[in-house]
Amino acid sequence: MTDRDPNEPMTEEELHHIVHLPKVELHTHFEGMAPPAFIRGLAKEKKVDISKIFRPDGSYDYRDFWHFLEVYEAATSVLKKPEDFARLCTAVLEKSAENDVVYQETFISPDFCGGGDVGAWKEYLHAIEDAATAAERDFGITLRGIVTCIRHNGPDQARAAARCAAETAGGFITGFGMGGDEKQGKQRDFAWAFDCAREAGLQLTTHAGEWNGPQEVRDAVEDLGVSRIGHGVNAYTDIALLEMLAEQDITLEVCPGSNVFLGVFPALKDHPIQKLRDRGVNVTISTDDPPFFHTTMRQEYAALAKTFGWGEEVFRELNATAIGAAFCDKATREAITKQLERK
Ligand code: ADE
Ligand code: ZN
Repeated sequence: MTDRDPNEPMTEEELHHIVHLPKVELHTHFEGMAPPAFIRGLAKEKKVDISKIFRPDGSYDYRDFWHFLEVYEAATSVLKKPEDFARLCTAVLEKSAENDVVYQETFISPDFCGGGDVGAWKEYLHAIEDAATAAERDFGITLRGIVTCIRHNGPDQARAAARCAAETAGGFITGFGMGGDEKQGKQRDFAWAFDCAREAGLQLTTHAGEWNGPQEVRDAVEDLGVSRIGHGVNAYTDIALLEMLAEQDITLEVCPGSNVFLGVFPALKDHPIQKLRDRGVNVTISTDDPPFFHTTMRQEYAALAKTFGWGEEVFRELNATAIGAAFCDKATREAITKQLERK
């Protein structure tokens, strides 16, 4: 498919149309979508003082990625009961639907929902799933969950997360993944957890190549057998790896705004997303943790259209790639594909 000529100015009408296209989003962290006002409200209700994680303007306050992970965990600490996660689910799906997202996948961690205990996890999950079903009816957005272990919590916690995933695989829970601090441990340390999830029929993704280089992405594919990679953007310097990703049909869950906000790349114009596309790698667009990175799916589309001169056909292709790589069943994929055809 040919891209529009980036030298041709994009009309306001064209841009407006692109920004409002129906969208598929594969890479979001459930708690990371929580608006700061929502978290402040819960903190007040529960009389927990987490005022130090907010700036005077009300936004989340952190210095860098590693501090972000600490602030993220402090924000999450006010989500104490299944009902809190149900309320979070309703709030975040309403926001995503306002951004025309028709299908979304989100990372949900048993570490935050019962600490890895299967019985407790099931209670959290039921509450989230009920809220997601109501949101599908009310806002027209379909959600699927990817059970996620947290790398800096280590392989033992990951095994517990995988057992939770295996016990609830099918229906709403369609995948298993890993987030957290990529600088700690190796992908292969988590092979047991990923094997357990695969045997339960779950599809696999892991964060790799956000902070580490191309070898991390290679390890993710070779040691864990994932079909998708969270970020993966630092693969761009290794041509042989890009060929492997393209040949093996691995999809990258690219989060451009997150990468720029956290300083992985200095500006969107320096982001390798165009280079990855040019090499035939499957790329998709997501927001990661939108309020933390001051972004939304509409903002991502507007920024990409302006920076790279991408027209409607590119965004339609990105969404087709995303629904093709989505961890959902055939009937859901077909239903969402129809929704994406909306003009
Ligand atoms: N957890 C939440 N957001 C994350 C990110 N961008 N990378 C790794 N772990 C995360
Ligand atoms: Zn992420």
